[in-house]
Amino acid sequence: MSPRGLFIVLEGPEGSGKSTLATPLADRMRAAGAEPVLVREPGGTRAGEIARQAVLDPEHPVSPVAELFLYLAARAELVATVIRPALGAGRVVLSDRFSLSTEAYQMVGRGLPAETVLPANRAAAGGLRPDLTLILDVAPEVGRARQVAAGKPLDRLDAESLEFHRRVREFYRQVRDDGVRHLDATRPPDRLLQEAWEAVVALDEQRFAAARS
Ligand SMILES: Nc1ncnc2c1ncn2[C@@H]1O[C@H](COP(=O)(O)OP(=O)(O)O)[C@@H](O)[C@H]1O
Ligand SMILES: [Mg+2]
Repeated sequence: MSPRGLFIVLEGPEGSGKSTLATPLADRMRAAGAEPVLVREPGGTRAGEIARQAVLDPEHPVSPVAELFLYLAARAELVATVIRPALGAGRVVLSDRFSLSTEAYQMVGRGLPAETVLPANRAAAGGLRPDLTLILDVAPEVGRARQVAAGKPLDRLDAESLEFHRRVREFYRQVRDDGVRHLDATRPPDRLLQEAWEAVVALDEQRFAAARS
């Protein structure tokens, strides 16, 4: 019997360090004998990359409901063709964003009604829920300053108002759920990595046993 898969998600505002954390976290998993599948949202499939281009293009804004469904189309395809098969094969999947981002940005940020967003969001995830969600917390001013310092071109969501990003951050800060851990993302990357790694190991000590010695 193959081991069950593990689904781990990184969440948090722009510039909180999700992408920075994903690579060394995956490296640690590898060093511990697991071969993680690393995905990012939106994207990771052909349809998902097309949706990504459409949704993030600052030159061609889309309406809030179209934005919602572009993200969800990308996610539905990623779940069906990449995440589910990998989990089914017993792999660890590490995703840079997932369903919580839709609640944060399209529901709370854009103000779309919960009765529109939540059922559609569940449908896109196909009933899949993360085993562990690490929420990186940083003030929008700090996240923005980091992006600017790194010379990252601002996409359509990055370029939203500070008010929008404050609502997003407050939403994330208030999430309390099974399997959700909040990390203070103002700390240095190696500290964050250590905390993230401890949370991952606690999830499945046996799978990551090689790393404990
Ligand atoms: N813990 C940290 N402390 C200071 N700067 C960081 C930290 N984590 C990431 N950064 C920097 O902030 C910028 C945004 O990080 P990134 O990982 O792209 O954020 P996200 O993927 O959450 O938008 C990058 O230039 C990165 O080097
Ligand atoms: Mg990123």
